[in-house]
Amino acid sequence: MSPLHDSGGDPVGAMIRPMRASDLDQVMQLLARWGIAPLSPSADMPNPERTDVIVGNTVVAEDAGRIVGVRSFIQHSSTEAEGASLAVDPIFHKHGIGKALMMAGYRMMLERGIRKVRAETDRPEVVEWLCRNFGHRVVGTTQKRHVFGNKDVGHWTVLELELDERLFIESSGAAEANERK
Ligand SMILES: CC(C)(COP(=O)(O)OP(=O)(O)OC[C@H]1O[C@@H](n2cnc3c(N)ncnc32)[C@H](O)[C@@H]1OP(=O)(O)O)[C@@H](O)C(=O)NCCC(=O)NCCS
Repeated sequence: MSPLHDSGGDPVGAMIRPMRASDLDQVMQLLARWGIAPLSPSADMPNPERTDVIVGNTVVAEDAGRIVGVRSFIQHSSTEAEGASLAVDPIFHKHGIGKALMMAGYRMMLERGIRKVRAETDRPEVVEWLCRNFGHRVVGTTQKRHVFGNKDVGHWTVLELELDERLFIESSGAAEANERK
């Protein structure tokens, strides 16, 4: 996959690529910064919100050998998946890394035949970002099973997306429009 460039033309340097098993420690550290690192089931917590990061379902952003972004998914059926473990290092926010990770993940899903994507988030700005950039729509809320993610919010906002090729066509059109600005 290719390096990213921000909309001003300066290279951000991060490379979007499939995750490797050797990335796991750095991925877990990045997720922990946002309180969304997976947890092993235990007697106290038999059903954690997230139990693992599936390497084959995950893309990462790498900058100078360091993992600075991650986005994964859980496949629920032959056509349905749920986005998971999305995070970008705050130093790298607002350079398009989150969007590039999202698009790489959608591409991976589409190639597997996934057509419906669910997402859960506890940050209003991320809800808005998912709706505006990728066409997700809010379908409801669900209670968290335990403290996870944003500790000030006790529920997830649930979103859905009908996934098809149009997402990639519309997205490249938006990128071209931005370049013309
Ligand atoms: C959600 C998240 C992954 C987004 O990551 P990001 O790399 O900042 O995402 P992007 O840069 O693609 O997009 C963010 C904004 O920056 C803008 N942006 C992109 N490139 C830019 C550039 N070169 N200059 C200025 N702004 C830019 C985008 O247009 C976007 O703005 P918009 O919201 O108006 O569309 C990140 O905020 C994050 O890690 N959040 C915490 C974890 C989290 O909430 N995870 C969700 C599951 S609980």
